[in-house]
Amino acid sequence: MKVLMVCLGNICRSPMAEGVLRHKARELGIRVNTDSAGTIDHHAGEPPDRRALATMVAHGIDISDLRARQFRVSDFREFDLILAMDASNHADLMAMAPDQEAKRKVRAIMELVPEHPERSVPDPYFGGDAGFEHVFHMLDRACDRLIDELR
Ligand code: 4NP
Repeated sequence: MKVLMVCLGNICRSPMAEGVLRHKARELGIRVNTDSAGTIDHHAGEPPDRRALATMVAHGIDISDLRARQFRVSDFREFDLILAMDASNHADLMAMAPDQEAKRKVRAIMELVPEHPERSVPDPYFGGDAGFEHVFHMLDRACDRLIDELR
């Protein structure tokens, strides 16, 4: 199973999502391949935002090895599941999908937690540290559900 997390810049939400899923899978001994990407290339090559790194460290997860990259159309072939962080990322991915098979791989990550009041993981980039903590808890819940589906 190969899972790709996608947001806008690939320095806040999607590397956090990748880190949470990778951490849970390792802890439970579940084989899952994880990666993340952004729909824009503005931050390509950069490590995660320092606030994302700090929030993850506070929860015992190190994502300092991750580097941003832009989503590419070949990712539709490469991955089994592509999880969009928000509605805008989802729409961008659907618009890039070359066929129905590609479209079927794309889901909004919060679809995994239907009872959660928010359908999109809010972009924390222009806010404060509290936004990152909120994002972490949303991703933590979503990745628990995904792990349940994978095992
Ligand atoms: P992300 O956050 O999509 O969660 O990585 C953002 C990072 C950078 C920008 C926007 C959102 N930006 O405009 O540069």
